[in-house]
Amino acid sequence: MKTLLLSLKDVEQALSMEEVISAVEQGYISYNEGKVQQPDIVSMEMPENNGETDIKSCYNKLNESISVKIASGFYDNGKNNELPTMIGTILLFDGRNGAPLCIMDGSLITGIRTGAAGAISSKLLARKDSKVVAVFGAGGQARMQIYALCQVMNIQEIRVYSEYTEELPKYKEYVERNTKVKVIICDTPEQAMKDADIAISTTPSKKYLVDKSLVKPGTHIVAVGADMAGKNEWDPEIFKGAKIVNDSIAQCISRGETRNAIISGIIKESDIYAEIGELLLGNKPLRESDDEITIFDTTGMGIQDNVTAAQVYEIAKKKGLGKYFEFI
Ligand SMILES: NC(=O)c1ccc[n+]([C@@H]2O[C@H](COP(=O)([O-])OP(=O)(O)OC[C@H]3O[C@@H](n4cnc5c(N)ncnc54)[C@H](O)[C@@H]3O)[C@@H](O)[C@H]2O)c1
Repeated sequence: MKTLLLSLKDVEQALSMEEVISAVEQGYISYNEGKVQQPDIVSMEMPENNGETDIKSCYNKLNESISVKIASGFYDNGKNNELPTMIGTILLFDGRNGAPLCIMDGSLITGIRTGAAGAISSKLLARKDSKVVAVFGAGGQARMQIYALCQVMNIQEIRVYSEYTEELPKYKEYVERNTKVKVIICDTPEQAMKDADIAISTTPSKKYLVDKSLVKPGTHIVAVGADMAGKNEWDPEIFKGAKIVNDSIAQCISRGETRNAIISGIIKESDIYAEIGELLLGNKPLRESDDEITIFDTTGMGIQDNVTAAQVYEIAKKKGLGKYFEFI
Protein backbone atom coordinates (compact mmCIF):
# COMPACT_ATOMS: atom_id res chain seq x y z
CA MET A 1 0.00 0.00 0.00
CA LYS A 2 1.08 3.58 -0.60
CA THR A 3 1.42 6.31 2.03
CA LEU A 4 1.20 9.95 0.95
CA LEU A 5 3.99 12.26 2.17
CA LEU A 6 3.11 15.96 2.38
CA SER A 7 5.62 18.74 3.01
CA LEU A 8 4.78 22.08 4.59
CA LYS A 9 4.43 23.55 1.06
CA ASP A 10 2.00 20.78 0.06
CA VAL A 11 -0.07 21.27 3.21
CA GLU A 12 -0.16 25.02 2.56
CA GLN A 13 -1.78 24.39 -0.84
CA ALA A 14 -4.42 22.13 0.68
CA LEU A 15 -5.64 24.39 3.49
CA SER A 16 -8.18 27.16 3.64
CA MET A 17 -9.11 28.87 6.91
CA GLU A 18 -12.80 28.91 6.03
CA GLU A 19 -12.87 25.13 5.53
CA VAL A 20 -10.78 24.50 8.65
CA ILE A 21 -13.19 26.58 10.76
CA SER A 22 -16.12 24.39 9.72
CA ALA A 23 -14.08 21.17 10.11
CA VAL A 24 -13.05 22.17 13.66
CA GLU A 25 -16.66 23.05 14.54
CA GLN A 26 -17.71 19.59 13.36
CA GLY A 27 -14.81 18.05 15.33
CA TYR A 28 -15.87 19.77 18.56
CA ILE A 29 -19.46 18.58 18.00
CA SER A 30 -18.34 14.98 17.37
CA TYR A 31 -16.28 15.10 20.58
CA ASN A 32 -19.30 16.16 22.63
CA GLU A 33 -21.47 13.56 20.90
CA GLY A 34 -19.10 10.83 22.11
CA LYS A 35 -17.84 9.92 18.64
CA VAL A 36 -14.19 10.61 19.46
CA GLN A 37 -11.60 8.72 21.49
CA GLN A 38 -8.93 11.10 22.66
CA PRO A 39 -6.28 9.64 24.99
CA ASP A 40 -4.36 11.86 27.43
CA ILE A 41 -1.66 14.07 25.93
CA VAL A 42 1.92 12.86 26.39
CA SER A 43 4.29 15.73 27.21
CA MET A 44 8.04 16.06 27.51
CA GLU A 45 10.09 19.10 28.52
CA MET A 46 13.66 19.90 27.52
CA PRO A 47 14.38 22.97 29.70
CA GLU A 48 18.11 22.89 28.86
CA ASN A 49 17.09 23.73 25.27
CA ASN A 50 14.01 25.83 26.14
CA GLY A 51 11.90 23.15 24.44
CA GLU A 52 8.77 21.08 24.93
CA THR A 53 7.09 18.28 22.96
CA ASP A 54 3.46 17.12 23.02
CA ILE A 55 1.92 14.01 21.47
CA LYS A 56 -1.80 14.42 20.73
CA SER A 57 -3.77 11.50 19.34
CA CYS A 58 -7.34 10.74 18.43
CA TYR A 59 -9.70 8.24 16.81
CA ASN A 60 -12.61 9.91 15.05
CA LYS A 61 -15.52 7.54 14.32
CA LEU A 62 -17.08 10.04 11.95
CA ASN A 63 -14.28 9.97 9.35
CA GLU A 64 -12.91 6.58 10.49
CA SER A 65 -9.38 7.84 10.91
CA ILE A 66 -6.73 7.77 13.60
CA SER A 67 -4.31 10.68 13.95
CA VAL A 68 -1.16 11.20 15.99
CA LYS A 69 0.61 14.56 16.10
CA ILE A 70 4.04 15.11 17.57
CA ALA A 71 4.48 18.84 18.01
CA SER A 72 7.29 20.79 19.63
CA GLY A 73 7.99 24.33 20.72
CA PHE A 74 11.71 25.12 20.89
CA TYR A 75 11.63 28.79 21.76
CA ASP A 76 15.35 29.51 21.07
CA ASN A 77 15.09 28.20 17.50
CA GLY A 78 15.81 30.87 14.95
CA LYS A 79 18.48 32.44 17.18
CA ASN A 80 21.25 29.84 16.73
CA ASN A 81 19.76 27.89 13.82
CA GLU A 82 17.40 28.32 10.86
CA LEU A 83 14.52 26.35 12.40
CA PRO A 84 11.08 27.72 13.31
CA THR A 85 10.09 27.69 17.02
CA MET A 86 7.06 25.46 16.40
CA ILE A 87 7.65 22.16 14.55
CA GLY A 88 5.27 19.23 14.13
CA THR A 89 4.43 16.11 12.14
CA ILE A 90 1.06 14.37 11.81
CA LEU A 91 0.53 10.68 11.07
CA LEU A 92 -2.89 9.75 9.68
CA PHE A 93 -4.10 6.12 9.68
CA ASP A 94 -7.16 4.35 8.32
CA GLY A 95 -9.38 3.65 11.34
CA ARG A 96 -10.79 0.47 9.72
CA ASN A 97 -7.50 -1.38 9.35
CA GLY A 98 -4.62 0.72 10.76
CA ALA A 99 -3.02 1.37 7.36
CA PRO A 100 -0.75 4.45 7.27
CA LEU A 101 -2.53 6.87 4.89
CA CYS A 102 -0.46 10.00 5.16
CA ILE A 103 2.49 11.65 6.92
CA MET A 104 2.32 15.41 6.76
CA ASP A 105 3.89 18.52 8.17
CA GLY A 106 1.87 19.50 11.23
CA SER A 107 3.17 22.97 12.05
CA LEU A 108 0.84 24.95 9.80
CA ILE A 109 -2.06 22.65 10.72
CA THR A 110 -1.49 23.39 14.43
CA GLY A 111 -1.42 27.10 13.67
CA ILE A 112 -4.56 27.10 11.53
CA ARG A 113 -6.69 24.76 13.65
CA THR A 114 -5.86 26.85 16.74
CA GLY A 115 -6.72 30.08 14.92
CA ALA A 116 -10.00 28.45 13.92
CA ALA A 117 -10.71 27.50 17.55
CA GLY A 118 -10.29 31.09 18.75
CA ALA A 119 -12.48 32.43 15.94
CA ILE A 120 -15.24 29.88 16.66
CA SER A 121 -15.24 30.93 20.32
CA SER A 122 -15.48 34.64 19.41
CA LYS A 123 -18.32 33.97 16.99
CA LEU A 124 -20.20 32.21 19.81
CA LEU A 125 -19.26 34.29 22.86
CA ALA A 126 -17.97 37.78 21.97
CA ARG A 127 -20.35 40.73 21.77
CA LYS A 128 -21.67 40.97 18.20
CA ASP A 129 -20.46 44.60 17.98
CA SER A 130 -16.84 43.70 18.92
CA LYS A 131 -14.34 45.78 16.93
CA VAL A 132 -11.15 46.21 18.98
CA VAL A 133 -8.88 43.24 19.71
CA ALA A 134 -5.95 43.09 22.14
CA VAL A 135 -3.26 40.54 21.30
CA PHE A 136 -0.50 39.38 23.63
CA GLY A 137 2.54 37.96 21.84
CA ALA A 138 3.54 38.56 18.23
CA GLY A 139 4.50 35.11 16.96
CA GLY A 140 2.73 32.48 14.86
CA GLN A 141 -0.44 32.22 16.93
CA ALA A 142 -0.75 35.99 17.25
CA ARG A 143 -0.90 36.04 13.45
CA MET A 144 -3.22 33.02 13.01
CA GLN A 145 -5.71 34.10 15.66
CA ILE A 146 -6.20 37.47 14.01
CA TYR A 147 -6.34 36.04 10.51
CA ALA A 148 -9.08 33.57 11.56
CA LEU A 149 -11.00 36.11 13.63
CA CYS A 150 -11.13 38.55 10.72
CA GLN A 151 -12.87 35.85 8.65
CA VAL A 152 -15.79 35.67 11.08
CA MET A 153 -16.10 39.18 12.61
CA ASN A 154 -15.86 42.77 11.50
CA ILE A 155 -12.67 43.73 13.36
CA GLN A 156 -11.40 47.30 12.98
CA GLU A 157 -8.40 47.66 15.28
CA ILE A 158 -5.74 45.37 16.71
CA ARG A 159 -3.70 46.43 19.74
CA VAL A 160 -0.60 44.25 20.15
CA TYR A 161 1.74 43.91 23.13
CA SER A 162 4.88 41.80 23.40
CA GLU A 163 7.70 41.82 25.93
CA TYR A 164 9.98 41.31 22.93
CA THR A 165 9.43 44.69 21.28
CA GLU A 166 11.84 44.03 18.39
CA GLU A 167 9.30 41.65 16.76
CA LEU A 168 6.42 44.15 16.77
CA PRO A 169 7.09 46.16 13.56
CA LYS A 170 7.25 42.91 11.53
CA TYR A 171 4.01 41.74 13.14
CA LYS A 172 2.26 45.00 12.33
CA GLU A 173 3.40 44.88 8.71
CA TYR A 174 2.34 41.22 8.30
CA VAL A 175 -1.10 41.58 9.87
CA GLU A 176 -1.95 44.84 8.12
CA ARG A 177 -0.93 43.32 4.76
CA ASN A 178 -2.95 40.12 5.30
CA THR A 179 -6.08 41.50 6.97
CA LYS A 180 -6.18 45.22 5.99
CA VAL A 181 -6.92 45.95 9.68
CA LYS A 182 -4.97 48.69 11.51
CA VAL A 183 -2.45 47.42 14.10
CA ILE A 184 -1.40 49.61 17.04
CA ILE A 185 1.83 48.70 18.83
CA CYS A 186 1.38 49.06 22.60
CA ASP A 187 4.06 49.64 25.25
CA THR A 188 2.10 48.10 28.13
CA PRO A 189 -0.62 45.48 28.65
CA GLU A 190 -2.80 48.36 29.91
CA GLN A 191 -2.57 50.16 26.56
CA ALA A 192 -3.39 46.94 24.71
CA MET A 193 -6.47 46.25 26.85
CA LYS A 194 -7.81 49.80 26.49
CA ASP A 195 -11.19 49.55 24.68
CA ALA A 196 -10.56 45.87 23.83
CA ASP A 197 -13.74 43.89 23.12
CA ILE A 198 -11.82 40.66 22.53
CA ALA A 199 -8.43 39.83 24.10
CA ILE A 200 -6.24 36.98 22.87
CA SER A 201 -3.12 35.69 24.59
CA THR A 202 -0.56 33.73 22.61
CA THR A 203 2.68 33.43 24.60
CA PRO A 204 4.38 30.61 26.54
CA SER A 205 4.68 32.95 29.54
CA LYS A 206 4.91 31.42 33.01
CA LYS A 207 3.98 34.66 34.80
CA TYR A 208 0.70 36.37 34.07
CA LEU A 209 0.72 39.37 31.72
CA VAL A 210 -2.80 40.75 32.27
CA ASP A 211 -4.10 41.91 35.64
CA LYS A 212 -7.80 41.63 36.51
CA SER A 213 -8.07 45.46 36.76
CA LEU A 214 -7.42 45.71 32.98
CA VAL A 215 -10.38 43.53 31.91
CA LYS A 216 -13.53 45.55 31.39
CA PRO A 217 -17.06 44.08 31.58
CA GLY A 218 -18.19 42.51 28.31
CA THR A 219 -14.73 41.35 27.22
CA HIS A 220 -14.30 37.98 25.52
CA ILE A 221 -10.94 36.38 26.39
CA VAL A 222 -9.29 33.74 24.21
CA ALA A 223 -6.56 32.02 26.23
CA VAL A 224 -4.32 30.17 23.79
CA GLY A 225 -0.77 30.19 25.12
CA ALA A 226 -1.24 28.19 28.32
CA ASP A 227 -1.40 24.64 27.01
CA MET A 228 0.89 23.00 29.56
CA ALA A 229 0.97 23.06 33.38
CA GLY A 230 3.11 25.98 34.54
CA LYS A 231 2.17 28.41 31.74
CA ASN A 232 0.10 31.43 32.80
CA GLU A 233 -0.99 34.54 30.88
CA TRP A 234 -4.07 35.82 32.81
CA ASP A 235 -4.55 36.87 36.42
CA PRO A 236 -6.48 33.87 37.84
CA GLU A 237 -8.84 36.33 39.64
CA ILE A 238 -10.37 37.13 36.20
CA PHE A 239 -12.01 33.69 36.27
CA LYS A 240 -14.14 34.59 39.31
CA GLY A 241 -17.69 35.22 38.05
CA ALA A 242 -16.73 34.84 34.38
CA LYS A 243 -18.46 32.48 31.94
CA ILE A 244 -15.70 29.87 31.48
CA VAL A 245 -15.74 27.69 28.39
CA ASN A 246 -13.10 25.00 27.76
CA ASP A 247 -12.26 23.04 24.63
CA SER A 248 -11.90 19.94 26.84
CA ILE A 249 -12.55 20.30 30.57
CA ALA A 250 -10.25 17.35 31.32
CA GLN A 251 -7.36 19.00 29.47
CA CYS A 252 -7.97 22.56 30.67
CA ILE A 253 -8.05 21.59 34.35
CA SER A 254 -4.83 19.63 34.03
CA ARG A 255 -2.84 21.95 31.71
CA GLY A 256 -4.75 25.09 30.67
CA GLU A 257 -5.32 28.57 32.04
CA THR A 258 -8.35 27.13 33.91
CA ARG A 259 -5.91 25.00 35.94
CA ASN A 260 -4.26 28.16 37.33
CA ALA A 261 -7.61 29.50 38.58
CA ILE A 262 -8.45 26.12 40.17
CA ILE A 263 -5.11 25.58 41.91
CA SER A 264 -5.21 29.17 43.24
CA GLY A 265 -8.56 28.28 44.87
CA ILE A 266 -10.40 31.01 42.89
CA ILE A 267 -12.82 28.64 41.14
CA LYS A 268 -13.86 25.02 41.42
CA GLU A 269 -14.26 22.61 38.51
CA SER A 270 -18.04 23.01 38.90
CA ASP A 271 -17.68 26.73 38.00
CA ILE A 272 -16.71 25.80 34.41
CA TYR A 273 -19.77 26.60 32.30
CA ALA A 274 -19.34 24.30 29.30
CA GLU A 275 -17.18 22.67 26.67
CA ILE A 276 -17.32 24.50 23.36
CA GLY A 277 -18.91 21.50 21.60
CA GLU A 278 -21.89 21.77 23.97
CA LEU A 279 -22.38 25.37 22.87
CA LEU A 280 -22.17 24.37 19.20
CA LEU A 281 -24.78 21.69 19.85
CA GLY A 282 -27.07 24.40 21.27
CA ASN A 283 -27.22 22.68 24.67
CA LYS A 284 -26.58 25.86 26.70
CA PRO A 285 -27.15 29.61 26.24
CA LEU A 286 -24.24 31.62 24.81
CA ARG A 287 -23.42 35.17 26.08
CA GLU A 288 -26.34 36.32 28.21
CA SER A 289 -25.51 40.03 28.70
CA ASP A 290 -23.27 42.76 27.29
CA ASP A 291 -21.47 42.97 30.64
CA GLU A 292 -20.55 39.34 30.99
CA ILE A 293 -16.85 38.42 30.83
CA THR A 294 -16.50 35.26 28.77
CA ILE A 295 -13.34 33.14 28.66
CA PHE A 296 -12.48 30.47 26.13
CA ASP A 297 -9.57 28.36 27.37
CA THR A 298 -8.10 26.19 24.64
CA THR A 299 -5.33 23.68 25.20
CA GLY A 300 -5.60 22.18 21.71
CA MET A 301 -7.28 18.84 21.06
CA GLY A 302 -6.36 15.77 19.05
CA ILE A 303 -9.75 16.05 17.30
CA GLN A 304 -8.78 19.47 15.87
CA ASP A 305 -5.66 17.91 14.35
CA ASN A 306 -7.62 14.89 13.15
CA VAL A 307 -10.32 16.75 11.22
CA THR A 308 -7.83 19.22 9.73
CA ALA A 309 -5.35 16.50 8.71
CA ALA A 310 -8.14 14.38 7.18
CA GLN A 311 -9.29 17.40 5.18
CA VAL A 312 -5.73 18.12 3.99
CA TYR A 313 -5.30 14.46 2.95
CA GLU A 314 -8.49 14.46 0.85
CA ILE A 315 -7.68 17.78 -0.86
CA ALA A 316 -4.04 16.77 -1.47
CA LYS A 317 -5.19 13.58 -3.23
CA LYS A 318 -7.59 15.58 -5.43
CA LYS A 319 -4.91 18.15 -6.30
CA GLY A 320 -2.18 15.53 -6.83
CA LEU A 321 0.07 17.02 -4.14
CA GLY A 322 2.97 15.26 -2.38
CA LYS A 323 4.82 12.00 -3.01
CA TYR A 324 3.94 8.40 -2.27
CA PHE A 325 6.11 6.00 -0.25
CA GLU A 326 5.61 2.25 0.29
CA PHE A 327 6.17 1.37 3.96
CA ILE A 328 4.45 -1.99 3.49
N1 LIG B 1 -3.90 26.09 22.70
C1 LIG B 1 -3.43 25.59 21.60
O1 LIG B 1 -4.10 24.80 20.91
C2 LIG B 1 -2.09 26.04 21.11
C3 LIG B 1 -1.72 25.84 19.78
C4 LIG B 1 -0.51 26.36 19.33
C5 LIG B 1 0.33 26.99 20.23
N2 LIG B 1 -0.06 27.11 21.54
C6 LIG B 1 0.80 27.79 22.52
O2 LIG B 1 0.78 29.17 22.21
C7 LIG B 1 2.02 29.74 22.57
C8 LIG B 1 2.60 30.50 21.38
O3 LIG B 1 2.73 29.68 20.26
P1 LIG B 1 3.26 30.32 18.87
O4 LIG B 1 3.12 29.25 17.87
O5 LIG B 1 2.65 31.61 18.62
O6 LIG B 1 4.80 30.52 19.26
P2 LIG B 1 5.80 31.63 18.67
O7 LIG B 1 7.15 31.20 19.14
O8 LIG B 1 5.57 31.82 17.24
O9 LIG B 1 5.38 32.98 19.44
C9 LIG B 1 5.54 33.11 20.83
C10 LIG B 1 5.32 34.56 21.23
O10 LIG B 1 5.46 34.67 22.68
C11 LIG B 1 6.56 35.55 23.00
N3 LIG B 1 7.23 34.96 24.16
C12 LIG B 1 8.14 33.94 24.18
N4 LIG B 1 8.47 33.64 25.46
C13 LIG B 1 7.75 34.50 26.24
C14 LIG B 1 7.66 34.69 27.65
N5 LIG B 1 8.34 33.92 28.50
N6 LIG B 1 6.84 35.67 28.12
C15 LIG B 1 6.12 36.45 27.28
N7 LIG B 1 6.16 36.31 25.93
C16 LIG B 1 6.97 35.34 25.42
C17 LIG B 1 7.44 35.58 21.76
O11 LIG B 1 8.19 36.77 21.76
C18 LIG B 1 6.35 35.53 20.66
O12 LIG B 1 5.76 36.79 20.53
C19 LIG B 1 2.86 28.60 23.09
O13 LIG B 1 2.74 28.53 24.49
C20 LIG B 1 2.25 27.37 22.46
O14 LIG B 1 2.50 26.19 23.16
C21 LIG B 1 -1.24 26.67 21.99
